Amino acid sequence: MAAKKGTAVFDCRFEHHEAELKSLYLELYHGDEHSFEYFKEMLLRMWTERSAALRKLDAAREADPDWYKGHDLVGILMYADAFAGTLKGVRKRLDYIQECGVNYLHLMPLLESPKGRSDGGYAVSDFRKVQPELGTMKDLALLAKDCHSRGISLCLDFVMNHSSEDHAWAKAARAGDPEAQKRYFFYDNWDIPNEFEKTVPQVFPTTAPGNFSWCEEAGKVVMTTFYPYQWDLNYANPVVFNDMTENMLYLCNQGVDVIRLDAVPYIWKELGTTCRNLPQVHKLVRLMRMVCEIVCPGTLLLGEVVMEPSKVVPYFGSVEKPECHLLYNVTTMASTWHTVASKNVTLLRHQLGQIFALPGKYTFLNYLRCHDDIGWGLDYDYLERFGQQQIPHKRFLNDYLTGRWPGSPARGELYNDDPKLGDARLCGTTASLCGVEAARYEKDDSKLDWALRLDLMLHAYMFTLSGIPVLYSGDEIAQENDYSYHDDPLKADDSRYLHRGRMNWDAAEKRHEPDSPEGRIFAGLHQLEALHADHRVFDSAADVWVVDTKDDQVLGIGRYYQDEKLVALFNFSDKEKSICIDELGDYSDLLSGDAVDKSHIVLPSGGFLWAVCTFGGEEQ
Ligand code: GLC
Repeated sequence: MAAKKGTAVFDCRFEHHEAELKSLYLELYHGDEHSFEYFKEMLLRMWTERSAALRKLDAAREADPDWYKGHDLVGILMYADAFAGTLKGVRKRLDYIQECGVNYLHLMPLLESPKGRSDGGYAVSDFRKVQPELGTMKDLALLAKDCHSRGISLCLDFVMNHSSEDHAWAKAARAGDPEAQKRYFFYDNWDIPNEFEKTVPQVFPTTAPGNFSWCEEAGKVVMTTFYPYQWDLNYANPVVFNDMTENMLYLCNQGVDVIRLDAVPYIWKELGTTCRNLPQVHKLVRLMRMVCEIVCPGTLLLGEVVMEPSKVVPYFGSVEKPECHLLYNVTTMASTWHTVASKNVTLLRHQLGQIFALPGKYTFLNYLRCHDDIGWGLDYDYLERFGQQQIPHKRFLNDYLTGRWPGSPARGELYNDDPKLGDARLCGTTASLCGVEAARYEKDDSKLDWALRLDLMLHAYMFTLSGIPVLYSGDEIAQENDYSYHDDPLKADDSRYLHRGRMNWDAAEKRHEPDSPEGRIFAGLHQLEALHADHRVFDSAADVWVVDTKDDQVLGIGRYYQDEKLVALFNFSDKEKSICIDELGDYSDLLSGDAVDKSHIVLPSGGFLWAVCTFGGEEQ
């Protein structure tokens, strides 16, 4: 498709957004017209640098703005080095990635980051340079190109809240450059930092307590919400916003389709507040959304908002003023593991009821676990109605999922155990948390059978939710925890490395052996993915509701779209269950094709059913 001559396409998109873009920008930056002019020039420059192939993709997606909705995307999340050593290695493994049935590839941070002070790549020292061990920016662009030719979208983190203390700006700030210091939050003494500490919670209470660090060279205190080597960038300074937006667009121009806005709720700081989710954050995200629509409309924004539901949903913005395209279904994820441990679906039913009530146009990313810990941000107001208090309940969850609870087959480890608050979070791979590791260690076949069933049931449940299901690399072959991080001094303090282990390619070889654990999960997922792709009932536009199973240990989800209806049942208990469903229609088991007796559905412990019914065109 021939691009329009000159800058017409850019001008047209810019004009479309100009009034709002400019007024929002000037509102945040106190009428700084000069910075806005620079901003506009920068956008044009980045648009000019965008390749013809990417512009073509932009045009196609602009014509089909809901391209990421529906039920076509399935994702996988991985560290490039753990999966294949380098970016070139990932390119060579694209066949495997496709064999996993996914078409959305999220690579964990891969930009330059100092060894031992990297927070898994989340402390970036150069936003334009790939970590040399992983390859070059050219390798990244080539990988994106290969992905596109196979219909795979590429997602990358944009770590925007902070830079590494080794970033050129931080180095200049440390050397005393006042302009560079204005890019961060520097204070001459602890007075203001101490004021902040009164209202700002802690992210890493054990591994990195406090929100500020002393910078010896500058003789000043600097804000470090995360690790002391991650210096918070000051977005109240337009220079920071301009330059960071340029850095984001630089990544988009390499062919990145989805930008994960890392730690986005934290990007605006104000004394006397929690420094989370402030109104200015939403203004900045809105600006970034408009920036993408102007320069690279093929790009999606995925907000990393690990917060309670009432804080998450506003990041979708409104119909007229959208912010993020995608958000994590984080409370649902945590509630799922609560359900595994407690074997009671009451909370999950309540949580899903809230999610299902949201407008279908909100697209969530569904996942069982990611590279981070599982934090217990559950709906405690609700749980307290059943006499469950936060601290003892969190202790129970952690005891169960680390295998300390009598009879628990789960094998996880605690993360940031804060003895004062009793607020530890949790790490572990899906398979290890489901009991696969313990069963294999004990060579107990019936336990293994159960654990694998549970593992697959959780995936089936994830595929039943609307949105984009995302696997964690290795989970497709039931990969277990990796304890080797304990012996690595650079990682030993951070138990998240437990579930960030190297891909076990020897184990992956067994994925076609139907009786091996690898083969059972791999084939099981394959079947789920194929059904998910083939059946319109999984479309995001479907009606979704909680089905009453009359059993607090069996979750029921209903979906209805066009002429197809699905009733999905998930047995979280440790017993076989017989369920009766009171739903209209004749159903068959989507996996086996067998007819379903609605009055007597037998589900083994950890078992699930996808029962489907087609209404020959008539409305139900
Ligand atoms: C996000 C990342 C996490 C990282 C943090 C700081 O929460 O998921 O891994 O530690 O941001 O960048």
